Parts: sequence; structure tokens; C-alpha cells
Amino acid sequence: MPDPSPPVLLITGASSGIGAATARAARAAGWRVALAARSHDRLTQLADELGGEDSALALRCDVTEWEDQQRMVADTLAAFGAIDAAFANAGFGGPRGFLKDTTEHWREMILTNVYGAALTIRATVPALTDSRGHLLITSSVAGRRVLPGSLYSCTKHAVTAMGEAARQDLNGTGVRVTLIEPGMVDTPFFDNKPQDALRDDDIAAAVMYALAQPPTVDVNEILIRPIAQDG
Ligand SMILES: NC(=O)c1ccc[n+]([C@@H]2O[C@H](COP(=O)([O-])OP(=O)(O)OC[C@H]3O[C@@H](n4cnc5c(N)ncnc54)[C@H](OP(=O)(O)O)[C@@H]3O)[C@@H](O)[C@H]2O)c1
Repeated sequence: MPDPSPPVLLITGASSGIGAATARAARAAGWRVALAARSHDRLTQLADELGGEDSALALRCDVTEWEDQQRMVADTLAAFGAIDAAFANAGFGGPRGFLKDTTEHWREMILTNVYGAALTIRATVPALTDSRGHLLITSSVAGRRVLPGSLYSCTKHAVTAMGEAARQDLNGTGVRVTLIEPGMVDTPFFDNKPQDALRDDDIAAAVMYALAQPPTVDVNEILIRPIAQDG
């Protein structure tokens, strides 16, 4: 019997930070990866580093565009034949305060963090149902406790709710659902380097832990803070 094909993990927000670190960890564990984000150059560079088109695909996708998300899934299936896990991870934050930030930035953040994650679920669920696969979604500590004046925190509360809504919706299909809820992680998410933060690798390890469980075990949430974070 030939070896079964390596499993396939699709990641949005793969060009940087947590998504890129997860792609590296997944490749090291033998997964093939489909890397989606808007920065095609960075994705191509990462895909080359991870072994090229037999094992890593670079897919330009703006998660706020349904056509992009559909193409991302179709291209992954055409190249790899299946999607065993999808990590809806694309997102960004903004300044706290309801009189801060621009209304246009608010709109983009809500569309990316909430609508974009919902579109990724919608686009990937048929393939995940076929593979009896695994859906993972990046929420945040900010999706578990409200931060003052933070519309970002409100978007992540919506993402936390989306994870549980998807889990209930997919119950009985064999698809597992995991919410990843990081505290402060040292990534380009922040304009200024945070002190005493987690590393992007720490979150990648949490993702790989959830993925490595037996098919009958669904790790529903992983809330992970650096040791020094109080809030
Ligand atoms: N860093 C933290 O402390 C922290 C804590 C809790 C949760 N999180 C969450 O973790 C996730 C990853 O963030 P990170 O810390 O790794 O930050 P990051 O390094 O800035 O990565 C964000 C990723 O999202 C992608 N992205 C943004 N808008 C997009 C869009 N419209 N379409 C497709 N991709 C888009 C970016 O790629 P392009 O710009 O190339 O599109 C990038 O790959 C986010 O959901 C964030 O809210 C981060």
C-alpha cells in the first residue's frame, strides 16, 4: 500500500505572524499547506521556503471578498485534492476609544475579522465535511473579556461566538472546531514591539496540539496568555 497523501491545512493570514508560524510548524509535522493572504510576494517567498508547490501553495486572497475565498478553496482542492483543516486566522486591530481611529478603518476591521472569518467558514465547510476535517478560528483574549473602548475586542467577541455557533452547526458531521484565543503575541499586529509577549511559535504549537488529537477529540477552545499578562 502506498503511503496516504499528507494532510492539507489551509491558513488565512498566512503571510505573517501567527499564520506564517503555523505554516512552518505544520510543514515540520508533515502537512501540506495552502497559504492565503493579500501579500502575494510574501506568500510566494514562504511557499518556496516550505518546499514549493508540491507542499506549499501561495494563494492571493482578500478574506473580505467572497470570490477570492471561493477561488482559494477551489485552487487548494485542484492542487492537493482535499482540505483536512482550515485555519481562519486573518485579522487586525486598531486603537482603543470610540473617538479614535477612522470610520473606514473600523469598517475594514469588522469586514476582515468578522465577515472574513464567516466567509472562510462558508467556503471551507463543504470540503471539511468531505474530509471529516478540522476548522480552527483565531479569536483572542479580547474575545473573552471586553477591553475598554475596543471595537477590535467587539469583533473578537463575535469571532468567539462564531466558533461556538460553527461547532454546534457542524456537530454530527465529523468536523472538529477549535477556537484559538491568544493573549499578547509578538507579531507585526503591533506597531511597537510588545514586552513579555508570547512568540508566534507558541500559538502555532497550540494549533498543532489541537490538530494532533484523535478524530473523536475536539479541543473547543485554547486560551493562552504570556505568563506576565494580567488583563
Ligand atoms: N498578536 C497578538 O497579540 C494577537 C492576539 C490575539 C489574537 N490575534 C489575532 O491573530 C490573528 C493573526 O494576527 P498576527 O498577530 O499574526 O498579526 P499579523 O502578523 O499582522 O498577521 C495578520 C495576517 O492577517 C492577514 N490579513 C489582514 N487582512 C486581510 C485580508 N483582508 N485578507 C486576507 N488576509 C488578511 C495579513 O496578511 P496581508 O496583509 O498580506 O493580507 C497577515 O497575514 C489575527 O486574527 C489577530 O486578531 C493576535
